[in-house]
Amino acid sequence: MESTPQKLEMFYEGKAKKLYSTSDPDLVIAYFKDDATAFDGAKRGTIESKGAMNNRMSELFFTLLEKSGVKTHFVRRLSDREMLCKRLQIIPVETVVRNLVAGSMAKRLGREEGEPLPHPIVEYYYKSDALHDPMILGQHAIAFGWATAAELEQIDTLALKVDGILSKFLDQRGVTLVDFKLEFGRHHGEILLGDEICPDTCRFWDKATRQKLDKDRFRRDLGGVEEAYHEMLRRVES
Ligand code: C5P
Repeated sequence: MESTPQKLEMFYEGKAKKLYSTSDPDLVIAYFKDDATAFDGAKRGTIESKGAMNNRMSELFFTLLEKSGVKTHFVRRLSDREMLCKRLQIIPVETVVRNLVAGSMAKRLGREEGEPLPHPIVEYYYKSDALHDPMILGQHAIAFGWATAAELEQIDTLALKVDGILSKFLDQRGVTLVDFKLEFGRHHGEILLGDEICPDTCRFWDKATRQKLDKDRFRRDLGGVEEAYHEMLRRVES
C-alpha cells in the first residue's frame, strides 16, 4: 500500500462533504458527512451512516468507471468516511444526464415522472448556491469562461459514457438509473470526474417495483431513507 499523505487543514465545507488539504499538494482528503439537505438547504436533516455508505458506493462506482477507461479523481478509500482524491480545479458546471423523466424535468416541462426518453439527455447547471444552480446552455459556460468548448465536448462524451456503464451495471442488479449529476474538474490539464456518485446525486428506482432507492425518499418525506441507501449499497456490492 502506498503511503498516505498527512491530513492538513480543512479548506472547504459543502453540504455533504468536507475537503482537507494534505502534505501532497496534488492530493486532498474528502470526508463524507451524514448531513442531508434539499431544496437549496431549505430542508435539513441527517441520514444515519449516509457518509460511510456514500463513500463506499462512490468507491465502487469510481473503480468500475476507471476499469472502463473513465478517468476520475478517486485514489483510494482511506476509512469509513474518508477518501483520498486528486486535487481538482472544479469546473462550476453540474452535468445532469437523464434516461427517464423525473424531478425538475417533470416539473419544468409538465411531463409524467417515469416517462422514458428516446435517448439520454445531457443538461448543464451553473453551480451557484446564490442563484439556486440555474440551468444553462453550454454556450453560457463558454461565454463566461467556466469551460472551453473542447472541455464541454469532452464532458458530454464522458457523461454519456458514464451513463452507459452505470446503467448496464445497475440494470444487472435490478436497478434503473433514472438520472444523475456529475461534476468535473481539471488536474494537470486533464479533465477528471470528481465529486461522488451515490443516492444523493442519482435517482435509482427498483426495476420491478419502481420503488425509489435514493435521496428523493428524504426530499419527499417518503420514509425508509436509511433502508433505501443500505439496499442500494447491498446491490452495488453484490
Ligand atoms: O432535481 P433534478 O431533477 O434536476 O435532479 C437531476 C439529478 O441530479 C438527480 O439525480 C439529483 O439527485 C441530481 N442533482 C444533484 N445535485 C443538484 C441537483 C441535482 O445531485 N444540485
